[in-house]
Amino acid sequence: MSGIRVFTGFVLVSLLSGPAWSAGSAGQGRRLAERWCASCHLVGPGQREASTDVPTFASIARREDLPESLLAAFLSTPHPRMPNMALSRQEIADVLAYIRSLRQ
Ligand code: HEC
Repeated sequence: MSGIRVFTGFVLVSLLSGPAWSAGSAGQGRRLAERWCASCHLVGPGQREASTDVPTFASIARREDLPESLLAAFLSTPHPRMPNMALSRQEIADVLAYIRSLRQ
């Protein structure tokens, strides 16, 4: 019986810690963000212009109410006033890794 519990625990942990989301590359994410997001969002310190009513990536990174699972779900679907970008799971992981890297 305990074997099943250990197995269930393992499945839960791997679902929650999601290797699919944690394997992103921040460098790749930054390139994606500059290409797809920078027309509206301020995605990094080097950028001068963006829409004023759109949250910056630095502020998104600090939002306590936006866990990465929610961000990932958010990025899998188009958001209002945002073009329909079809990001792959890998690209989403990369963008999230980049946003996470802005948190420091
Ligand atoms: C055409 C403009 C535009 C582009 C391009 C764009 N966004 Fe947005 N984004 C917005 C606007 C506008 C909001 C604010 C939406 C709102 O308040 O409803 C927003 C909000 C967000 C939020 C915050 C969601 C929240 O709940 O507060 C995230 C995260 C986000 N965008 C990520 C991205 C990423 C990642 C990209 C590039 C892959 C991107 N956006 C590209 C316009 C854009």
